[in-house]
Amino acid sequence: MTDWQVPLSDVATDEELVRAAADTVESGWWSMGPRVAEFEQAFGELTGSKHALAVANGTAALHLALLAVECGPGDEVLVPSLNFVAAANTIVHTGATPVFVDIVGDDDLNMDPADVEAAITPKTKAIVVLHYGGYAADMDALARIAESAGATLVEDAAHAPGGSWNGRKCGTFGAVGCFSFFSNKNLPVGEGGMIVTDDDDLKERLRLLRSHGMTTLTWDRHRGHAHSYDVVTQGFNYRLDEIRAALGLVQLRRLPEENAGRARVSSRYREALHGTAGITMPFPDAEAQTRSSHHLAVVLLPAGVDRIGVRERLTEKRIQTSVHYPPIHRFSAYGELGGRRELPRTDAVADRVLTLPLYAALTDEQVDLVVTELVAAVGAA
Ligand SMILES: Cc1ncc(COP(=O)(O)O)c(C=O)c1O
Repeated sequence: MTDWQVPLSDVATDEELVRAAADTVESGWWSMGPRVAEFEQAFGELTGSKHALAVANGTAALHLALLAVECGPGDEVLVPSLNFVAAANTIVHTGATPVFVDIVGDDDLNMDPADVEAAITPKTKAIVVLHYGGYAADMDALARIAESAGATLVEDAAHAPGGSWNGRKCGTFGAVGCFSFFSNKNLPVGEGGMIVTDDDDLKERLRLLRSHGMTTLTWDRHRGHAHSYDVVTQGFNYRLDEIRAALGLVQLRRLPEENAGRARVSSRYREALHGTAGITMPFPDAEAQTRSSHHLAVVLLPAGVDRIGVRERLTEKRIQTSVHYPPIHRFSAYGELGGRRELPRTDAVADRVLTLPLYAALTDEQVDLVVTELVAAVGAA
């Protein structure tokens, strides 16, 4: 493992988190139980959702969401190609076909409502909206388009806990909102996720699908609240455990501080880099920044710059970078899938996006070092 001077992301490992995990281990109840229920309650309060269901990870959240809104064989589901592959994979696992949609452009890496409209067909069942890097997509336009097409909105809010659009939290515009608590996320627990919805029927379907379609849980039976169960649908084991829920409760309390710290780092990058050496930083609009959860600090390198060379120079300086994302439509597994639509704006940024280190504990000195080394690397490339 490289000894990074500035890693891409970092997790806190302090006494409060260790205590939360240790207390849970000592409690003797490790599977889904009271801490999961408390975490769900608290997360639902954060988003203002009627229901929140904790799940094993963000991919499980998306899979359950798509099944709950009844995506299946013969359906098309629109999804941005500049995205993590989880949404596309889960669409395929429901039997539906992913149809890839372009981004707005260099300044806005979210899915383009006009291209969503162009991609809609009578088969369009759902639209999976990503809030890229924590910057909310245009939910007014997307909700309008979904409604007039009779398609269901599902939000992939993996990047956006605490993010908002016009005063309303990301994850609450769609029929279902999906979150990830993977280690590099704003609210990390290792592996974990959450689904939010205001719809009672969807909540019930999601709850059943999360746990094998069983009508009662081991926890209910342990407490003597139930003696047996029926199986009313073919579900999965996508449950979260108590240890991760205990970590999640601590991390959830820290989320406002974490997001504020990320905002500080992001704006320091932006001030130093936007317009320097031909580099730009997407989402230059001040309001987009105010409502973002700042999950990613992404810059666009000047066209033609050798990104691999830039990344290698930064690695030599022990600065970790990443690429969010290699577009899904270019992966071997999706060569034949995805509707074969032209995605010129996605293709135009695909070889230029570069993700810089971002987490609240980054110091100004570390940020300045990344800036200096990035500008030097671009100059030399
Ligand atoms: C946009 C997006 N969607 C979905 C996921 C899947 O989440 P998880 O890794 O928790 O399964 C991730 C995270 O890795 C992600 O970044």
